[in-house]
Amino acid sequence: MTLEDLEIKIKNISENYKAEPIGGWITGDGPVPCDILFVGEAPGKTEVETGKPFVGLAGKTFEKYLNSVGLYRKNVRITNTCFFRPVKLKISKANKTTISNRPPKIPEINLFREILNEEIKIVNPKLIITLGNIPLKRLTDFKSIGECHGKVVFNSIIGKYIFPMYHPSSLTYNRNDEFLRLYENDWSLLKNLLKTI
Ligand code: URA
Repeated sequence: MTLEDLEIKIKNISENYKAEPIGGWITGDGPVPCDILFVGEAPGKTEVETGKPFVGLAGKTFEKYLNSVGLYRKNVRITNTCFFRPVKLKISKANKTTISNRPPKIPEINLFREILNEEIKIVNPKLIITLGNIPLKRLTDFKSIGECHGKVVFNSIIGKYIFPMYHPSSLTYNRNDEFLRLYENDWSLLKNLLKTI
């Protein structure tokens, strides 16, 4: 399969999906093949508007830390577990509709199983870095990022090393120094790991 085939499949899956509300779709971004592949959760509003993963608020945090370990967007591949933007709609008493992001549901993640597997094959990374619980559960047997962040694990089914990290938006939910130190320590562990690959 080529990147073009993947894009056509993502488009078809997304445009034919009627079970839940969604708000557009994107593909992965970055060079192919590539030694380093980051896998996020699902795109948000800004990502769908620009057609690129991790360009919104979480993306700004992500890029800051990425650069701090000597990596740049142009040298890494970034993709997602779910390629469309899962949304929920709320209708107010005044009949106004507001749209917000929601986490992808398991059947939605499963719609893209083959796509992510194929992307991993095409990218052929030496290391996959999962960002948050959604890609962690999709690519490892761990149930929660708290139990495995900052440790290298091997997925023998896909034959790839995986480095689980917290999602960058977790900094928004955990505004305390202890979590910041833990989060920044994972990035310095990644920096050391990159010297060995
Ligand atoms: N968060 C994600 O998990 N993925 C994106 O592409 C953007 C934000």
